[in-house]
Amino acid sequence: MPAANSPALALREPLAPAPRARSLRGLPKVQPAAAPSDDALVARPFVKWAGGKWNLAERIAELLPVDLERRVYREPFVGGGAMYFWLHAHRRPRRAHLSDTLADLVHAYNCVREQPDALIRRLQRLEATHDEAQYYRVRERFNAERGATPLERAAWLIYLNKTCYNGLFRTNRAGGFNVPLGRFVDPTVVDPTRLRAASRALQSASIVHQSFDHLLDTARPGEVVYLDPPYVPLSKTASFASYAHGPFTPADQERLAELFRKLDERGCLLALSNSDTPEVRRLYAGFDLQTIMAPRSISRAGATRHPVSELLVRNLARW
Ligand SMILES: C[S@@+](CC[C@H](N)C(=O)[O-])C[C@H]1O[C@@H](n2cnc3c(N)ncnc32)[C@H](O)[C@@H]1O
Repeated sequence: MPAANSPALALREPLAPAPRARSLRGLPKVQPAAAPSDDALVARPFVKWAGGKWNLAERIAELLPVDLERRVYREPFVGGGAMYFWLHAHRRPRRAHLSDTLADLVHAYNCVREQPDALIRRLQRLEATHDEAQYYRVRERFNAERGATPLERAAWLIYLNKTCYNGLFRTNRAGGFNVPLGRFVDPTVVDPTRLRAASRALQSASIVHQSFDHLLDTARPGEVVYLDPPYVPLSKTASFASYAHGPFTPADQERLAELFRKLDERGCLLALSNSDTPEVRRLYAGFDLQTIMAPRSISRAGATRHPVSELLVRNLARW
């Protein structure tokens, strides 16, 4: 899979000396630094993403190593980046390496980081002329014009994400974005202040188009790795989580659990989210398992939001 930018470049960053390992047990609960007073200046995900962690970010952050500020942070299933943006605002890791297998998303991150003003101008133009006809025209171009500039494609991706039904990025088997127009009356396509905040937050991160397997070559002892893969389905009838590149299969879950064990042996400080199922408990047997209650829509109609228990797996013995 082609890399959007070189992981080798990302690794030129000097690594923080690994602080002495210590256990979280018995330590006082982490008090996140107060949020910056002007909330509009705080970076947030610039796309709505399936499985986005914004509502759980504070709870998960409490369960990450207490000295994150001194460590390198890796997030190989970055999606909408909720965890990274939250951590950047409250517990700022020394340096971050983010990645995902969805190429268009990775390109969009790089455009937000490198060219926020040009991107804002394009999004403002799309917002001003938004209507049904424009939505389907942009959707068609997004699917047909793979060779358009990264800036153009980033603007299309964000515009479609902000105006489509349910605000989610989903593709068909052929890789085409196929979500119909959403029922928004006057959708906000871009908040310039917020997008510039995201751009600033991304200055201390590299964002690479790669599968999680690259961690075997890149992750180093003492680095913090937060993994948020597509979840193991809650029931046999539920389908495997599918993003834009096919389902994340049971074999992928096995491979990921194997990687988790290898990185544990290497001395990385690991935390991984997944559903609370017997399968996940089997895959990560022997590690610390924390139950987290997530507000989530589980009925098909999505009318009710029941809290669902999910797991945060940690290799706490290494911390
Ligand atoms: C549950 S979402 C992550 C959500 C994210 N934590 C957030 O808050 O928005 C899982 C992500 O994994 C990505 N993904 C799927 N298969 C992957 C793979 N083999 N390697 C890396 N990323 C993958 C998907 O594109 C998707 O963005």
